Amino acid sequence: MLVFIRMLKLSITTILLIWLGSLTCFAQQNTLDSQAPIAQKVDQLLLKMTLEEKVGQLNQYASYKNATGPINSTGNIVDEIKQGRVGSILKVNGTVDIRIYQQAAMQSRLKIPLLFGEDVIHGYHTTFPIPLAEASSWDMAAIGLSARIAATEAAASGINWTFAPMVDISRDPRWGRIMEGAGEDPYLGSQIAIARVKGFQGNGLGSLDAVMACAKHFAAYGAAIAGRDYNSVDISDRTLWEVYLPPFKAAVDAGAATFMNSFNELNGIPATGNTYLQRDILKGQWGYKGFVVSDWGSITEMINHGFVADKRHAAMAAITAGCDMDMEGRSYIDNLPQLVKSGAVSVALIDDAVRRILQKKFELGLFDDPFRFCNTEREKTVVNSPENKAIARSVAQKSMVLLKNDNQLLPLSKNLKQIALIGPLAKAKKDMRGFWALPWGESDETDPVSLYEGIQNKLGNNTTLLYAKGCNIDDTVRAGFADAVKAAQQADVVVMAVGEAFDMSGEAKSRANIHIPGVQEDLIKAIRATGKPLVVLVMGGRPLIFNWTADHAPAILYTWWLGTEAGNAMADVLFGDYNPSGKLPVSFPRSEGQIPIYYSYKSTGRPLISPADVVYKSAYIDQLNTPRYAFGYGLSYTSFKYSDLKLSAKTMNDKQKILISFALTNTGKYAGEEVAQLYLHDRVASVTRPVKELKDFIKVNLKPSETCVVNFEIDSKKLAFYNQKMIWSTEPGMFDIMIGSASDDIRLTDTFQLIKTQ
Ligand code: BGC
Repeated sequence: MLVFIRMLKLSITTILLIWLGSLTCFAQQNTLDSQAPIAQKVDQLLLKMTLEEKVGQLNQYASYKNATGPINSTGNIVDEIKQGRVGSILKVNGTVDIRIYQQAAMQSRLKIPLLFGEDVIHGYHTTFPIPLAEASSWDMAAIGLSARIAATEAAASGINWTFAPMVDISRDPRWGRIMEGAGEDPYLGSQIAIARVKGFQGNGLGSLDAVMACAKHFAAYGAAIAGRDYNSVDISDRTLWEVYLPPFKAAVDAGAATFMNSFNELNGIPATGNTYLQRDILKGQWGYKGFVVSDWGSITEMINHGFVADKRHAAMAAITAGCDMDMEGRSYIDNLPQLVKSGAVSVALIDDAVRRILQKKFELGLFDDPFRFCNTEREKTVVNSPENKAIARSVAQKSMVLLKNDNQLLPLSKNLKQIALIGPLAKAKKDMRGFWALPWGESDETDPVSLYEGIQNKLGNNTTLLYAKGCNIDDTVRAGFADAVKAAQQADVVVMAVGEAFDMSGEAKSRANIHIPGVQEDLIKAIRATGKPLVVLVMGGRPLIFNWTADHAPAILYTWWLGTEAGNAMADVLFGDYNPSGKLPVSFPRSEGQIPIYYSYKSTGRPLISPADVVYKSAYIDQLNTPRYAFGYGLSYTSFKYSDLKLSAKTMNDKQKILISFALTNTGKYAGEEVAQLYLHDRVASVTRPVKELKDFIKVNLKPSETCVVNFEIDSKKLAFYNQKMIWSTEPGMFDIMIGSASDDIRLTDTFQLIKTQ
């Protein structure tokens, strides 16, 4: 008996100590048995939390720097952190500043570490090409590596969560955020989503160089009506599932730690308060275990949508629909405790959201060491290192698309006597970084290599580089034309740099007119009139329209915005040190009236067979149906021959596969890479199918005269679609195989039949 009482005393003392410890020092969270599985630790911690502390975990504030939306916070963030009212901060970076906020969290009762989120969209300090440019590389290893470097730098700088990748499909180049995604195609978009998620998360959360990925914006943000940012989205469930959801599903399967919902409403229901999207599809059907953060203030914005009357109802709608964290909206922190107390929101909903967030904090290792991402020495060596810049240069080389190269004008000789570099973007630096690059103060002026510098770096003393700006990016002043023409007249070759400024594509940067802005195309006309060989480099964040240039300039290179090493990479391509290999991930329209324009359209009952015969056909009477440049298009300095298509069988059933093989030969003078593309078409189905759909691709590097055999495999997954009942299934019938160098440049065709098994 005595023994028993002694034991009891001991255990009571122990329990008391443990309890006291939990009140005073999180380091003694050893009470959360460090060996226990994370889910158990989360449960143990949850038991200790007050309702207010739980809601605090769902609350994310922006620091006052680099805001990308309206700041709603009025109080002192640091004080609120100490009170346990904040779970995450966005827009603070650098180990020194992050440490300050994390230290505040360590003064809160339970010492739960903060998550630090940032828009690390295309590089952190070393800026990589904008995502749409990287998508043009069709090179998953390069895209993954870019995300890897971005994560390594960001993690060394204290950040543990990036709001990327944006996996929104977009078929509307008026939408400024098209720059941030992977273009128009769900298959290519899904492959890129996987590459980016894996790149950001590296060897997994817990590694010192991994940050949490965030697949955004869930969902269909890229289908904003009329291409106007934040606008409503009204699409069929079929389009949602076939076009907009696949990259998100791919991101889930690749292990994306978090999701962000979106500003738009989808068929009448704001995405942020959309139960169908977040609970039914994401957390239900897809079994997603990560957490969902709102977009900036999007919970509160449901009031403006006319979906809820006030912040209280906004909070209720969002948490019920499955939005776990409130980004800079204050709806949760101000309303959820009361909503739970009044019984309007069940505590189980709150617990589920908190669990998801705590789980990630444990996985990141933040409970073991909240400052593990705050090593200032590491930050100095990792961020913006020469090695990272070299990788950025190589990714930038791969991201350019050669649109035209009459008479092999490119590559240029390095022995030219005089080159004239003309145009408002020739010496631009900040514009090379693009819209989502983080501001780096003074270094903005030193870091990105301009085209002018890139060409100078490339040339020896025997070549003179003449320069004339010619005009500004977006006004009507032609005063500089005369000097530009004079420079052109003196030169052997003219290189022009035209396009958009960094803030003309991006968030809230939709444009109704997407022609090359200002008088730049008039400047091109004036230079072309000199008769000098002319190479035009078009820089921008979206497909721009430049019909005159497309018709008259002998060589056009679409460079997008290429980041830190832009100028060097462009010079590498201009002078043949890199043979361009990019292919467009999005169709380029001839006029805004064609938008939305995409290669995987449906046939219609009156398809246009010949552009000459538009009467009673699905056509424009004042414009071609075809894009100016098609999806998948891009030239090389060399040429490729496709031949010898073979199919392992002409029929297959659901369980079988057909192996396709063909020969790809480099028939030109330069070593080069080709992206061979496989498209399929289901001729007859119970739901009409697009005229072609990308189902596979491969990027191959070949020396002159070299041939390789390319293999693609067709299985039933490539043939399935959502039937009339929206069930993912196959139907028997004939399929067309199209293999080519672009969606409008099909080189090999064949057919096969799917025989359905019972
Ligand atoms: C954007 C998000 C971004 C967030 C934080 C919002 O305005 O839509 O994509 O991650 O701001 O900067």
